[in-house]
Amino acid sequence: NKTGFIFDLDGVIVDTAKYHYLAWKKLADELGVEFTEEDNERFKGVSRKRCLEILLEMGHIDATQQQIDAWLFEKNEDYLSYIDRMDESEILPDVPKVLDYLKRKKIPMALGSASKNAEPILQKVSLLSYFDTIVDGNLVTRAKPDPEVFLIAGKNLGVELENCVVFEDALAGIEAANTAGMTSIGIGDPAVLLQAKYNFTDFTQIDFEFLDSLIDR
Ligand code: BG6
Ligand code: MG
Repeated sequence: NKTGFIFDLDGVIVDTAKYHYLAWKKLADELGVEFTEEDNERFKGVSRKRCLEILLEMGHIDATQQQIDAWLFEKNEDYLSYIDRMDESEILPDVPKVLDYLKRKKIPMALGSASKNAEPILQKVSLLSYFDTIVDGNLVTRAKPDPEVFLIAGKNLGVELENCVVFEDALAGIEAANTAGMTSIGIGDPAVLLQAKYNFTDFTQIDFEFLDSLIDR
């Protein structure tokens, strides 16, 4: 019974959740919509398009398709200005330790992210080679909490759904993993990620023994 590991990107592998927040905050200010870090929880794991829809709903703003396209472009340009400056220092603590360990054990690994910027980001932080398959926002049509992204990742890994383990920092992502019938591991505040099967504040809290227990089930 082969186990496979699926990693979300933003907020799990790299510290980019803060940049998404800053870029949305800037647009929200321009549109006169109040937007707090708490509101931002609803944006985590969710596609760019869906995030903008939520923002417009929050501000009761009706927009034309042309405006929507322009705002999506603007948000992404702003986000990319942060990403351009990014390097390995923005890999979250102990992520390489976990990736290295699983790689040495030849465990199949996938990236399962809503982001259309996943590959360039992984390249920037030199982690692209760890993953056997990259399933990202360019491939997936239905945003988390829909399980599509993880279902494709599991299929690409050739691992049964119930033998897939998913690391997620977003509520929507935990929900997607649970719906897919996978083992969900919340990375972040346990008070937020209530539905996760296991929860850790970050990867420094995860030891090899725990990883082994997931592998030898
Ligand atoms: C997810 C982030 O990983 O990717 C979301 O958690 C983001 O906040 C989504 O909206 C889409 O990212 P991008 O890079 O395609 O705008
Ligand atoms: Mg995330």
